[in-house]
Amino acid sequence: MKNASLTVSLAGLRLANPTMLASGILGYSVETFESIAKGGAGAVVTKSVGLKPREGYPNPTVVQVSSGLVNAMGLPNPGIQEFVQEIRKAKVALRVPLIVSVYGFSPAEYATVAGRAVAAGADAIELNVSCPHVKETGSEIGQSSQVLIQVVRKVKHTINKPVFVKLSPNVTSIEEIAQAAANAGADALTIMNTVKALAIDAETMMPILANKTGGLSGPAVKPIALRHVYSVYERVKVPIIGCGGISNWQDAVEFLLAGASAVQIGTAISTIGPAVFEKVACGISKYLKRKGLRSVSEIVGLSHRN
Ligand SMILES: Cc1cc2nc3c(=O)[nH]c(=O)nc-3n(C[C@H](O)[C@H](O)[C@H](O)COP(=O)(O)O)c2cc1C
Repeated sequence: MKNASLTVSLAGLRLANPTMLASGILGYSVETFESIAKGGAGAVVTKSVGLKPREGYPNPTVVQVSSGLVNAMGLPNPGIQEFVQEIRKAKVALRVPLIVSVYGFSPAEYATVAGRAVAAGADAIELNVSCPHVKETGSEIGQSSQVLIQVVRKVKHTINKPVFVKLSPNVTSIEEIAQAAANAGADALTIMNTVKALAIDAETMMPILANKTGGLSGPAVKPIALRHVYSVYERVKVPIIGCGGISNWQDAVEFLLAGASAVQIGTAISTIGPAVFEKVACGISKYLKRKGLRSVSEIVGLSHRN
């Protein structure tokens, strides 16, 4: 039997395989995005960028805990005006879709940043409405259906590229928020951002991160993310991108079976390196062949059958 096709069509984007770089793990430089694409990623998502430059929080901003990381970076970024130069260069250098993650403090700000990113060449926009540690943006926007609807509508009116909405697990009902995003016109939902968390040092008797609280990522959050993907898939009819704790092909397959059309990988890059993308894609291909299947889309949501 021939090898299975790994190609995925996601909200109009064509990905050579279903793996994507998750936002924020590797910053903003074209060289980094190139190394991720060379590592086999089907698409690249940038770190979240806002209207104005932001320094972020003082160190320490990341701490290792059992089975994951807790981070509170504080959305450090050069601002969209500076970043458009990297987007232009990345468009020339990369042969995979470039998705720019944006954040803002109002619907108009999200739309302005998204508009500038698209004008510079972004293939799609991912709205970060789920950062758990910066006030008045991120999850403060993504935990209210009403505010979220305004943001998504405004961005959809401003740009003519696909809009992904990245959801937070730190809400009472992710299904309701997902439905609101879909109703407002989201082309895909990325599930999920980090889980609110805290690390304390017993010796200093103090929280370790400068911001005190942060967001948990890595293997520890995988079952939470998987549950959210599974549950949103049953309720909302837009493509889902699964994200949270994926570090090998089995993890990725579980997300596809739960209902994700593609997956994002973040924390695992810190332990495995950029080769994680090729390893995961190759594993999915072998799995499909072993199961006698010809394409990724054949397993999307398969765990829901009765
Ligand atoms: C150090 C670090 C920085 C992050 N920065 C961002 C960011 O700027 N924007 C965003 O939407 N998500 C950000 N995230 C969240 C990740 O994109 C991802 O949703 C989360 O880490 C879960 O996936 P993982 O377990 O594969 O890392 C960050 C995560 C980490 C660990």
